[in-house]
Amino acid sequence: MNRPWITLSYAQSLDGCIAAAPGQRTSLSGPEAMKMTHQLRAQYDAILVGVGTVIADNPRLNVRLVEGRSPQPIVLDSRLRIPLQSVLIQSPTHSVWVFCSTNAQAATKVSLESAGAHVFVVNEGETKYVDLNEVLHICYDKGIRSLMVEGGARIIQAFLRAGLVDEVVITITPRFLTGLTALTYPLPHLPQFINPKYQTLGSDIVVTAKLLWES
Ligand SMILES: NC(=O)c1ccc[n+]([C@@H]2O[C@H](COP(=O)([O-])OP(=O)(O)OC[C@H]3O[C@@H](n4cnc5c(N)ncnc54)[C@H](OP(=O)(O)O)[C@@H]3O)[C@@H](O)[C@H]2O)c1
Repeated sequence: MNRPWITLSYAQSLDGCIAAAPGQRTSLSGPEAMKMTHQLRAQYDAILVGVGTVIADNPRLNVRLVEGRSPQPIVLDSRLRIPLQSVLIQSPTHSVWVFCSTNAQAATKVSLESAGAHVFVVNEGETKYVDLNEVLHICYDKGIRSLMVEGGARIIQAFLRAGLVDEVVITITPRFLTGLTALTYPLPHLPQFINPKYQTLGSDIVVTAKLLWES
């Protein structure tokens, strides 16, 4: 299947958490690592999060801390729970792409489209969420060749579970959170980390590696 190159990028504490509690916005990376994240965003055609992250963080997903082009924002949102007032829906510069399932309310789709979003209806996968392969196929068809996946936890788990990650850029920050872990359930297959690189940025460590999945 043709699909974009996928880089999974998120920040975690030393104990593997991406937020202090489920659904809680938690600032993790220091300023240097944040700048690196924006540099990375500028290199990708699109950036993807789950609707849980939109509800918790109301993110902009654009490039602000460096010069560069902002990627196309994408939200996976089976039931169209994305708030109409979210920054992504209200953005005057970018029309967010929202992927919902065939079970989403048609009226909500109309409201979101009237507000400027582009809503794609796709099938539900085995997990009752939107089917990732179909999403990626549509993205590729629309010209997206590189995709940065930023979370949250369910999205990280879903992409890794499906073996749909080519590269990781993980920022590790020296804190314990005892909160929402990036990975809660076992993965059916564990990838090999190819030629990992470690970079210190401020008080954070950034681990970058390509992943090799057994076929
Ligand atoms: N530290 C970091 O780098 C970082 C980055 C991002 C987010 N976060 C944190 O992560 C937390 C949010 O994580 P979360 O797990 O609650 O939400 P999430 O992963 O952002 O979104 C999960 C939701 O996406 C929807 N979805 C649609 N298709 C899916 C698919 N194929 N697989 C999985 N989900 C799919 C589902 O909702 P529907 O069933 O309604 O579609 C699901 O509940 C927040 O606390 C946020 O602050 C941290």
